[in-house]
Amino acid sequence: MAYPELSAVTKIAVVGAGTIGASWAVLFLARGYHVAVSDPDPARETFVRDFVTSVLVQRTPSPADALSRLEFSASVEAAVEGADFVQESAPERSALKRDLLARIDAVLPADRVIASSSSGLSVSGMQSSLRHPERLVLGHPFNPPHIIPLVEVIGGTRTAPEAIAWAVDFYRLIGKHPLHLKKEVPGHVANRLQAAVWREAIHLVMEGVATVAEVDEAVRFGPGLRWALMGPHLTFHLGGGAGGMASFIEHLGPAVQTWWDDLGSPILTEETRRLLIDGCLAEIGDRSAEDLRRERDRLLSQIVALVEASPIL
Ligand SMILES: NC(=O)c1ccc[n+]([C@@H]2O[C@H](COP(=O)([O-])OP(=O)(O)OC[C@H]3O[C@@H](n4cnc5c(N)ncnc54)[C@H](O)[C@@H]3O)[C@@H](O)[C@H]2O)c1
Repeated sequence: MAYPELSAVTKIAVVGAGTIGASWAVLFLARGYHVAVSDPDPARETFVRDFVTSVLVQRTPSPADALSRLEFSASVEAAVEGADFVQESAPERSALKRDLLARIDAVLPADRVIASSSSGLSVSGMQSSLRHPERLVLGHPFNPPHIIPLVEVIGGTRTAPEAIAWAVDFYRLIGKHPLHLKKEVPGHVANRLQAAVWREAIHLVMEGVATVAEVDEAVRFGPGLRWALMGPHLTFHLGGGAGGMASFIEHLGPAVQTWWDDLGSPILTEETRRLLIDGCLAEIGDRSAEDLRRERDRLLSQIVALVEASPIL
């Protein structure tokens, strides 16, 4: 199947207008596309327009042009009509996604790629009832997609390699950093890494080693700073000095192995939940989560700009 020339793409459908859909909409609008957003909840139209406006006013003195390219519809069929690409960002429920993707697949011409933002569902599972399963890919962003470059791309057992290649090229064209994964695993790569760190973060709190805020401090003022520049492997390669990873493994490998043996596997009981919720509320004090999100996004944009201007690799 020949998918559209990238230069011919003009309209993108964003299906599901929550946290992720609204952020994808900002990115696509900022890149000059017409964006049709669909969500069964009519209140999401105001949410998306307000979100798009609040982000775009910081980037352009006149967001009116971008806003004029944004349309909203409660009907998914209406939104995907004439779309050159669909980014699905509906709730993470497999039956809902399967039904929604089948509705999109039924009306969208076969030569258009559909990407799902799913954080953990497999493409192979989601594509089982599609007429054209070969055009479904995963396009898993990192929140917020209009700022964080990473998007994980993978197909299911029935996805065509051309659809994956098209999605990778398209995401690269719009300034994302697509990573084509080799194998489907629950949670993909980046979320599994986050889950691994969070698991031990919770364990440390439960064991009374540090509070919720102190564990966060350990990341913010320590490894988190390096992780913005390079991953865990290269960080340790540099930690090995002139001998690199070989020296690091020889020197610290046995110790790290004993730490691995001691890591926890917490269960999210009611008591653990309470500990984490109270810990977060204590950490933010009288700041609102919305206030912090806005400030985080402002600073994140600066970090991304800095790293992109002087890439270390
Ligand atoms: N929140 C994150 O950090 C994050 C990060 C990466 C990927 N994701 C993935 O993105 C997807 C969306 O997550 P979210 O956090 O934006 O969820 P959300 O709950 O904020 O938004 C989901 C939206 O989908 C709408 N919706 C419900 N039924 C629908 C339907 N039939 N058709 C279209 N829209 C429908 C809801 O009204 C809501 O506005 C999920 O698959 C999630 O795994 C989330």
